Amino acid sequence: MQITILGAGAIGCLWACRLAKQDHHIHFWTRTDKPSFSIVLNDCVQTKDHAQTPLAPELFDFTSNNIQSIAKSELIIITVKAFQVEQALNDIFDHIAPHTPIMIMHNGMGTQQHVKTRLVDHPILYATTSQAAFKPNKEHINHTGLGPTWLGAFNQSAQGFASLAELFHQALAPCGWHHDINEPLWQKLAINCAINPLSAIHRCQNGELATPQFHAVLTQVCHEVAAVMQAEGYAVTAKKLKQTVDTVIKATAANYSSMYQDIFQQRKTEIDYITGYLITRAKVHGIAVPMNTQLWQDVKLLEQNHDDK
Ligand code: PAF
Repeated sequence: MQITILGAGAIGCLWACRLAKQDHHIHFWTRTDKPSFSIVLNDCVQTKDHAQTPLAPELFDFTSNNIQSIAKSELIIITVKAFQVEQALNDIFDHIAPHTPIMIMHNGMGTQQHVKTRLVDHPILYATTSQAAFKPNKEHINHTGLGPTWLGAFNQSAQGFASLAELFHQALAPCGWHHDINEPLWQKLAINCAINPLSAIHRCQNGELATPQFHAVLTQVCHEVAAVMQAEGYAVTAKKLKQTVDTVIKATAANYSSMYQDIFQQRKTEIDYITGYLITRAKVHGIAVPMNTQLWQDVKLLEQNHDDK
C-alpha cells in the first residue's frame, strides 16, 4: 500500500518502520521541508516466555513532504499529538484523494468533533496503541514496550475497512478491529489519566508509581474515571481499571511517560485531551472528579512555568 504518515514522532516512526518491513511504501508529511530522512530502529520482539528481546538496529529510508505522494496515498495515518490534529488536517486536506481512509492515532480523546465536521466524505478510523516507543534524537527510535493496538470505524464509510487491522497485525502484532473504538479509547484514556500526570508531576519513571505512596491517589483516579466511563455506557469497575493501570505500570516500569518527556523538554502536553477530556465529560454527567481536577491543575502549572521562562 501507498501510505502517508503525518507526524514523525516515536509512534509514527515505529509504525512506519514496521509497515515498511512488510513492503508497504511509506511517505511522511512533517513540519520540515526535507524530501527524505533516515531512521535507525532499535526494535524488540516478544519471546515465547513473554520476555522482550532486543533486535539488531535496522536502517530505514523514507521520502517526505511530497504533495503528489499524498494524493497517491491509499491510507493516511495521523500520529501527531491531539492538539496538532486540526492543523495537520488543514495542511494536507486539499491534497487527499476523495474516499482515501484517514486513521487517527493519538493519546487522549476530544479531537472527534473537529474531525467529524472537517472530514465529511472520507472514511475515518481511530486507533489506539499500547506499543511504546522513545525517540532519543531525530535519527533513532527505540521500541520500548509491546502491547495491543485497536482500530475501529469512526463513521459509516469506514465500516468496510476492517481488513486494515490485519495489515497492522502483520506489521506489529497484536492488532484487532473493535466494533466500538470508543471503548478501547476510553480504556487507554484511563491508563493515561493515571500514569501520565503523576509521572510528570513527580518526575519519575512509570515503575515508581507502583510504590505504596501512590496507591491512594491511583485508586481515586480510577474510581473517578470508572464513574465517568459508566455514565458513558461502559461496564467497567474501578477495581478492574486499577488492575489494568497496575499491569501497564509494571510492563512499562522503565519508561518515562510521554507527559514526563513533554514536561522535561518544556513542550506543551496532552493534558487537555487526557485529564481535561475526562473533566469535560464528568461535567456533562454531573460527576465530581476532584483528584483528576487537582492533577490537571498541577500539570497546567508546570506548563505555565515553561511559558514564564
Ligand atoms: O503516554 C504514554 O507514555 C503511554 O501511553 C503509557 C502507556 C502511559 C506508557 O508510558
